[in-house]
Amino acid sequence: MSDDGCQCSSLRVLKALASSITQSGVDWDELARAYDLAPEILYLNHASIGTIPRAIASARHRYLDLCETNPWLYIWGGAWEKERQDTRRRAAALMRCDADEVAITHNTTEGINVLAQGLPLGPGDEVLFSSMNHPGASVCWQQQAARRGFKVRRFEFPVAEADSMSADDIAAIYREQVRDATRVLVFPHVDNIVGFRYPLRQMASMAHELGVEFVVVDAAQAVGMIPVDVGASGVDFYATSPHKWLQAPKGTGLLYLRKAMQERVQPMWTTWGQARWKGTVRVFEDYGTRGMPEVLALGDALRFHDELGERRKHARLRDLWEHTRALVDATLRIRWRSPRDWKSSSSLYAVEVGGVNAPEAGQRLYEQHGIVLRAFGGAELNTFRLSPNVMTSKKQIERVVRIAAAL
Ligand SMILES: Cc1ncc(COP(=O)(O)O)c(C=O)c1O
Repeated sequence: MSDDGCQCSSLRVLKALASSITQSGVDWDELARAYDLAPEILYLNHASIGTIPRAIASARHRYLDLCETNPWLYIWGGAWEKERQDTRRRAAALMRCDADEVAITHNTTEGINVLAQGLPLGPGDEVLFSSMNHPGASVCWQQQAARRGFKVRRFEFPVAEADSMSADDIAAIYREQVRDATRVLVFPHVDNIVGFRYPLRQMASMAHELGVEFVVVDAAQAVGMIPVDVGASGVDFYATSPHKWLQAPKGTGLLYLRKAMQERVQPMWTTWGQARWKGTVRVFEDYGTRGMPEVLALGDALRFHDELGERRKHARLRDLWEHTRALVDATLRIRWRSPRDWKSSSSLYAVEVGGVNAPEAGQRLYEQHGIVLRAFGGAELNTFRLSPNVMTSKKQIERVVRIAAAL
């Protein structure tokens, strides 16, 4: 596609969404019509996987079609080189870091794998994380530890107390666990169980002061949902999955590697063409032939996010959060199990319904009412996780609370 063709495609995306986004604000009901979520479904699981506006899905199809007209040109011939770099620049602006610190990956799991395989670790070294880490940010360290002789220490986080914790409490819990051997600390920016928003800057400076060399953040649940300032946070690595909150095509990821840290990481993939990317962040995304239409459509999703406006999106999610909390607090059988102040919370929250087994009831909610959410069970948890995005309506949330209260 010529530059003009691509620009035209991106403009079409914005034009298709223009009826809902105006200078005076966003018409959220109108915006909800820009998606293809099935009407019989009530989708409250953007934390597992997001959805994308129809216009971005169409743009992706156009890129796929075009690619098939001359595959070599678009994949290897450099026809989309400018667009690839534009996607990187937009991603860097979103995360508030430099473009040469952003690798375009496929998801958070890949980003964390790059680090688990590439950081210089060996016998005597420890990687530390808590039970709040998603398996995608945990199991690769365990596999590498068995192969290379370093240790992984996973401690139990008191998740049942999360609803009364502050950011200071979180930092103190981790501080207590750091040992002389701890070289890597891994934690989520927003965890996927109760949606606690970790104090990045505080965590990074605590860890570095205690001698931790590499601070690794799993940001699968943060980018696109809350404003982030990775550059100023002091963390060393930050991996995310734009196919959740940023509303980008499935299988698109971003990995921030602080410039000064890049030479400490061995690239995970070894390819025939890698030498040309030596010394640049692109060694961490070069795995051979890549699906470029997704990279371009990720650029469109970033453009859409800009157009929607980070502040407006965050305010919308906060509004939905406040609405849900007020409903839950007014419903005797339902208890809020996530942080109670928005600064520590997020658009991912846990509620418990008295006398109900959440995993079992979650299945019924889906089968009988079309409600898509995630349920957690176990020794400490028996919760439904609600994770609405901007197109979720207050009416939908009211319906879910009403149905949950009658379970
Ligand atoms: C906190 C967290 N980390 C990592 C992942 C894995 O995401 P992906 O499959 O996009 O790598 C998830 C998925 O839900 C998650 O919630």
